[in-house]
Amino acid sequence: MNKYVALLALGLLLSGCNIYEKPQINSADKKSGEEQIKVQQAKAHVKALGTGLKTRLQQAIKTGGLEAGVEECQLAAGPIADTLSQDGWQVGRTSLKVRNPNNAPDVWEREQLAYFSGLLDKAKLSNEQPRKPLDTYQYDSESGEFRYMMAIEQGQICMACHGSNVDPAVKEVITKHYPNDEATGFNLGDLRGAFTLSYKPQ
Ligand code: HEC
Repeated sequence: MNKYVALLALGLLLSGCNIYEKPQINSADKKSGEEQIKVQQAKAHVKALGTGLKTRLQQAIKTGGLEAGVEECQLAAGPIADTLSQDGWQVGRTSLKVRNPNNAPDVWEREQLAYFSGLLDKAKLSNEQPRKPLDTYQYDSESGEFRYMMAIEQGQICMACHGSNVDPAVKEVITKHYPNDEATGFNLGDLRGAFTLSYKPQ
């Protein structure tokens, strides 16, 4: 190798290949734009799933009581999530204590749930409102793969099916459909779970 070429190569190596700096910055800008789009799309999916579930749940409770609500939730949760799981997206819910074992978290989801739970505990201790939305994401700019989670807090209407005082008749229906149910005993404002989404370019 020519001495100058070798020196130039060494120089580029030591300077972090400055020759590529410009294109790198441009593509980083573009990626961060893509990242923002993915976050917006994830939030839109969360809204669709959350609203869809709530509407179906409220309607079923109104006409058939909480027991009907349990059955509706079982019937509706999967299909609503499936409808949204298109074009590379996977949309669902998870928790550290699941009712449906199919919703069990993987390692990354478990870590984010622990992080959310820590933030909620901290906010509770200091009597502050937790950050809203309480969410987190990871984006791989190489592969374009994206994951997103948004915390779900236990609200008043959730107590009837996820609280510590679930009516025995409701409990019976829950146990019938979910013999390994872990999703009771939550207090108001606890981390009940999270929406969890992933995207893989197709
Ligand atoms: C009428 C009973 C009922 C009510 C009220 C209810 N849920 Fe559930 N919830 C269920 C059932 C049944 C499932 C399991 C659905 C499935 O099979 O995926 C479930 C599952 C979930 C899951 C998915 C993780 C898991 O445990 O499998 C989350 C998160 C959740 N509920 C949050 C809430 C929140 C938040 C509220 C209040 C806004 C609420 N639920 C109100 C019955 C209920």
